[in-house]
Amino acid sequence: MKNIAVFCSGNGTNLQAIVDAVESGYIKANMALMVCDNPSAYALKRAKKAGIEIFLLTPKGFKTREEYDRGVIKKLTEKKIDLVVLAGFMRLLSPYFIKKYKDKILNIHPALLPSFKGTQGIKDALDYGVKVTGPSVHFVEEGLDSGPIILQETVEINDADTEETLAERIHEKEHIIYPKAIKLFIEGKLKIEGRKVKIS
Ligand code: GAR
Repeated sequence: MKNIAVFCSGNGTNLQAIVDAVESGYIKANMALMVCDNPSAYALKRAKKAGIEIFLLTPKGFKTREEYDRGVIKKLTEKKIDLVVLAGFMRLLSPYFIKKYKDKILNIHPALLPSFKGTQGIKDALDYGVKVTGPSVHFVEEGLDSGPIILQETVEINDADTEETLAERIHEKEHIIYPKAIKLFIEGKLKIEGRKVKIS
């Protein structure tokens, strides 16, 4: 069975969706580790409740991004992690980390990439005035939110939407497509060909 590590910094609703998908047998893998950089993340409570091992590593005291990442990689190696799942992990990974886990890191972004990259994908789409937005799951490579896209979903934006109401609908879709993309990865159904991901 493949070992998954989920990385979180915040609420952890995507972590919860993944945990539920593993527990129900939809994803046939082992939830081996939850990595967190934020001691006040609600995701920690979710991981604890689900009985998942937690690796909490705060960036304080690390001089460089790579030094921090080496600390994380040591733990990932120990736990024999096959897949790294970024679920609201608000730290950039170092090139060293990305090379080490090449084609084995997934991320979810709350906008239709390549639009609205960065940390405010929902607000930026709303402020721009687009009529359709939605989450993207992609492989992680060195550029910000730039790796090959695996799955996307659309959400229509209404005149009455606020950041909160829109976020709610985007999250609902995230909780469907992220477990689905992870399942496809675990079953070996994703093939990267240049910028494209072929799904078999
Ligand atoms: C999700 O909406 C995810 O798309 C976003 O953080 C949220 C985490 O929610 N990620 C990014 O913006 C990455 N650029 P969660 O902690 O409830 O899963």
